[in-house]
Amino acid sequence: MTDVPTIALNSGTSIPQLGLGVWQTPDDDAERLVRFAIDEAGYRHIDTAKIYGNEEGVGRGIATSGVPREEIFLTTKLWNADHGRDRALAAFDESLQRLGTDYVDLYLIHWPLGDDAEFLATWHALEQLHSEGRARAIGLSNATIRHLDLVLAEHSVAPAIDQVELHPHFQQLPLRQHALEHGIAVESWSPLGGTGNSGWGKNSRPNTVLANETIAEIAAEHSVSPAQVVIRWHLQNGLVVIPKSTHEQRIAQNIDVFGFELTERDLQRIAALDTGERVGADPDTVR
Ligand SMILES: NC(=O)c1ccc[n+]([C@@H]2O[C@H](COP(=O)([O-])OP(=O)(O)OC[C@H]3O[C@@H](n4cnc5c(N)ncnc54)[C@H](OP(=O)(O)O)[C@@H]3O)[C@@H](O)[C@H]2O)c1
Repeated sequence: MTDVPTIALNSGTSIPQLGLGVWQTPDDDAERLVRFAIDEAGYRHIDTAKIYGNEEGVGRGIATSGVPREEIFLTTKLWNADHGRDRALAAFDESLQRLGTDYVDLYLIHWPLGDDAEFLATWHALEQLHSEGRARAIGLSNATIRHLDLVLAEHSVAPAIDQVELHPHFQQLPLRQHALEHGIAVESWSPLGGTGNSGWGKNSRPNTVLANETIAEIAAEHSVSPAQVVIRWHLQNGLVVIPKSTHEQRIAQNIDVFGFELTERDLQRIAALDTGERVGADPDTVR
């Protein structure tokens, strides 16, 4: 069994640093792939969302795996149409029902939309879910420094995590520094550079991270794949990382990253690849 390190969250719980992302994994495949990830590959952390349309398949995959629910870290997210206190509480109940569970380990606001008052009302609904013990940790996704500060100024429960686009071409250093200073863990979405066909956001573009020459050279030096190099880069930078694949062999490969370590020079070479270019939507312009 792979020993994935955990990161302590300000909620008092901890999150396995590596998990399986399931965006664009069809509901029909999710049950089999999640069960494979848990039983065969050793994952203990799954990242889904209402909008992915596969909470039911994910829930069945967990339930039919050989691992008890309480040993799995499960994240889902509140979709954009569900902002506002009452809608947020109802959306959470519906997610739990689809997932077939009575709690999640992490509930995130998927995008920080709407006016500030509505966004904060949504956050206060998540605080209620946390106080009821039904969301063991709560956090934000796609929050900029401004959004973090807004919540930090008004919170009774601080966000445990900010899940943002982050990969070697978009390294988000100022946001990471700010989150760290406030005890908020940073989780990388599209950690491998994205699926390349999302069509989501005007920045949507083909994956250029896995095809990068420097990454390929480092991979060859360690006799591993480019994806494994990139996943190690996230781990060695203290980030939570949730690569997605619909192929069992890649799901297994992506967690097989604890038999090698990137050198300081490797890390510096990858640090130099930041182009500041997103592959997904920009939280400042998404509506
Ligand atoms: N909060 C948000 O707004 C947000 C936004 C986007 C994503 N996310 C989360 O982050 C997760 C990961 O992001 P992502 O799905 O955009 O992309 P990603 O994990 O960066 O990249 C996935 C792409 O890489 C391919 N791939 C995976 N493992 C590989 C390997 N070992 N070798 C070669 N290719 C490999 C996959 O193809 P195959 O599937 O064909 O193997 C897929 O095309 C999502 O699933 C979701 O859970 C969150």
